[in-house]
Amino acid sequence: MLTDSLQQVESLLRDTFSVSVPPAQKVYDAALYSLMLPGKRVRPTLTLLFAQACCGSSAHAVPFAAAVEMIHTYSLIHDDLPAMDDDDFRRGQPSNHRVFGEDIAILAGDALHSAAYTAMLSDAVFLSVGVESAARAAYVLSEKSGIRGMVGGQTTDVMSEGRHVGIDTMTFMDEGKTAALIEAACMMGCIVSGGDSGQIAAAESYGRHIGMAFQIIDDILDVTSTTEELGKPVGSDAENRKSTYVSLLGIERCRQLADEYTRSALDALSVFEGDTTSLAEFALQLRDRRK
Ligand code: IPE
Ligand code: IPE
Ligand code: MG
Ligand code: MG
Ligand code: MG
Repeated sequence: MLTDSLQQVESLLRDTFSVSVPPAQKVYDAALYSLMLPGKRVRPTLTLLFAQACCGSSAHAVPFAAAVEMIHTYSLIHDDLPAMDDDDFRRGQPSNHRVFGEDIAILAGDALHSAAYTAMLSDAVFLSVGVESAARAAYVLSEKSGIRGMVGGQTTDVMSEGRHVGIDTMTFMDEGKTAALIEAACMMGCIVSGGDSGQIAAAESYGRHIGMAFQIIDDILDVTSTTEELGKPVGSDAENRKSTYVSLLGIERCRQLADEYTRSALDALSVFEGDTTSLAEFALQLRDRRK
C-alpha cells in the first residue's frame, strides 16, 4: 500500500514538470532534473506513514507527500548555489546550477516552492480530504519551511560560517534547517487523515527528534563517507568553515546524541492506537543510514 502511494508521489512529481512550454521550457526541465534524481524520499515516506498510523490508508496524502518533497528539493537546489554551500554534486549528478546555470537554478527552486502549494490546494484535493484539512496542512508546511523554520535555520547556517557557534545556536540552526521540514512532513500526514491534536503534536515531536538525528548523521557522513556513496561532496562543511555538531562535539558524542534523539522519537509514538512498527523501524534505519 505504501509502495503504491510512493509510486503515485513519483508520478505526481514527474507529471507536474513533464510539460512542453516552449518559452519557459528550461525551468521545467531544471525542476524535473533535480526532482527525478534518486533522492531518498524520506519526507514523503513520513507523510504517508503518519497517514497510515492515523487512518489506515495513505493514498489521500499523496499530494501532501509530493508537496514536501518539492519544498525539500527547492531547498537543496538553493543550498548548493555558489552563494550558499557552492557544491557541484547532488543526488549523484552535477548540481542544478552546474547544468542549467545559476539563474535558472534559482527560478527552478522558486517554481518548486509554488508548485508545492498548487499540489495541495486543488479542487480535487479539497474533495478528497476537505478544504479545512488541506488548508491546515498547507499552513503547517508554510510555517515550517519559512522564516520560523527552514529559511531561518539556513540563515543561521550561513551567518555562522567561520565563527564559533554554541550548542544553543547549533540546536536552533538544525531544528530550523532540517528538523522543521521533517516535522511538517509528519504533521501533514496526521492532519489530512483526521488525526487529533495529541497525534499531531506527537508527529511534530517524532519529526523534531528524528530531524535532529538526521542532521547530526548528515554532519558525521560529511566527514566519514565518500562522495560516491553519498552522491554529494564530502568535506563540504570543513571547506566552508561551517560550524556543525561534529565540529563542536566530535564524532563519538554525535553518534550518542543521534541515538538519544532517535529514542525520544520512538517515545512519541505511544499515542497512536494503530500499528507504528514501520515508523519505529524507519527512525532506526535513518539513525543507521550510510547515505
Ligand atoms: C539532505 O537531505 C539535506 C539535509 C537536510 C541534511 P536528504 O539526505 O534527505 O537528501 P535527499 O533527498 O536524499 O537527496
Ligand atoms: C542543508 O544542510 C539543509 C537544507 C538544504 C535546508 P546541509 O548543507 O548540511 O545539506 P547537504 O549536506 O548539502 O545535503
Ligand atoms: Mg547548507
Ligand atoms: Mg549543503
Ligand atoms: Mg550536510
